[in-house]
Amino acid sequence: MKQYGLLLVALMGLSSLTLAQTQYHSFLPGQIWKDDKGVHINAHGGGILYQKGTYYWYGEHKIGGDAGNQARVGVHCYSSKDLYNWKDEGIALKVDPKEGSKLEIGCIIERPKVIYNARTRKYVMWFHYEQKGHGYDRAASGVALSAKATGPFKLLKIFRPDAGTWPLNVLPMHKSTPFNAMGAKFNGGYCSNDVDSVNFVKRDFEGGQMARDMNLFVDTDGKAYLIYSSEENSTLHISLLTPDYLSTSGKWVRVFPGKHNEGAALFKRKGKYYLFTSACTGWAPNPGRSAMASHIFGPWKELGNPCTDKDSLTTYHSQSTFVIPVAGKKDAFIFMGDRWSPKDAIDGRYIWLPIEFKGDKPILRWRDEWTLDVF
Ligand code: DGJ
Repeated sequence: MKQYGLLLVALMGLSSLTLAQTQYHSFLPGQIWKDDKGVHINAHGGGILYQKGTYYWYGEHKIGGDAGNQARVGVHCYSSKDLYNWKDEGIALKVDPKEGSKLEIGCIIERPKVIYNARTRKYVMWFHYEQKGHGYDRAASGVALSAKATGPFKLLKIFRPDAGTWPLNVLPMHKSTPFNAMGAKFNGGYCSNDVDSVNFVKRDFEGGQMARDMNLFVDTDGKAYLIYSSEENSTLHISLLTPDYLSTSGKWVRVFPGKHNEGAALFKRKGKYYLFTSACTGWAPNPGRSAMASHIFGPWKELGNPCTDKDSLTTYHSQSTFVIPVAGKKDAFIFMGDRWSPKDAIDGRYIWLPIEFKGDKPILRWRDEWTLDVF
């Protein structure tokens, strides 16, 4: 009898827990967003993969305090059928407690993105990697592989992209002029000089180009691209990946030299390519930027700040991270941004807003609450 009583109490506890779980029917930008266990979603600087009716959200798992700005746990994965409600799928890529290992606890793993390769039937994760204890100097890409969307992902390599290759839009001076170390004057992290004449491209020709903030984009023809902040964050690079999505192919371009873009998120609408980016101000928010091109390798045309209302100078206190194409809805895209909280990293919030268009220009407007019915 006593056992039955206990069982009943346990079952009641379980059902009240289930009842207590938040069911979302809308997006609430900037608010605590709970997963199926009632815990604030922990997937910062993230990206979304849509695969056979399920969305997967991958992002940086943060811990509390400023220690959370380094990787202490790994890349967290969640799944969803409706984009509002997210199930915790656990840590898809784990850091390694072993001292000296590449993914040692305390390294930096930022802006992880996953794409599916139909040829190899593998899930491929790319992320911005920094070695433990070396600040942001390594500026490299990490690549990890899994047979399942939810992982476990296994680290394949860490490298700097596009070694030994010139960009398709190389200038003669990049090949002929040596790196000008004296010209590379840094002002609060910015190289304030003309980046072409300083020639970071030549400096990093052999070892590979610096790769910090990054994103992936799979085009309608199945070709995948890496978009990354390079040349001391001064210039974006867009690089075609190999057919297995595991390496850069050596075909790449420089975009907006010297304009210091971070947080690049690329998407395609009606045959045109669009980019959201931010300026380069560490964890602090700044005015967003947008650009458009008829070909992914450019030329790219700047379209200015996509935010149109109050708080547009801080992108609603956030930084661009990814653009989600909404499955089953034509030309429906969601802007995904991070509201960073560097002093208590785990408290970072998510700013998801529908992307509107004024002619060819993408527009963002603040909404306290919204649903997919806006599309
Ligand atoms: C801004 C970047 O967008 C983030 O991903 C992160 O690298 C911070 N800078 C670090 O200050």
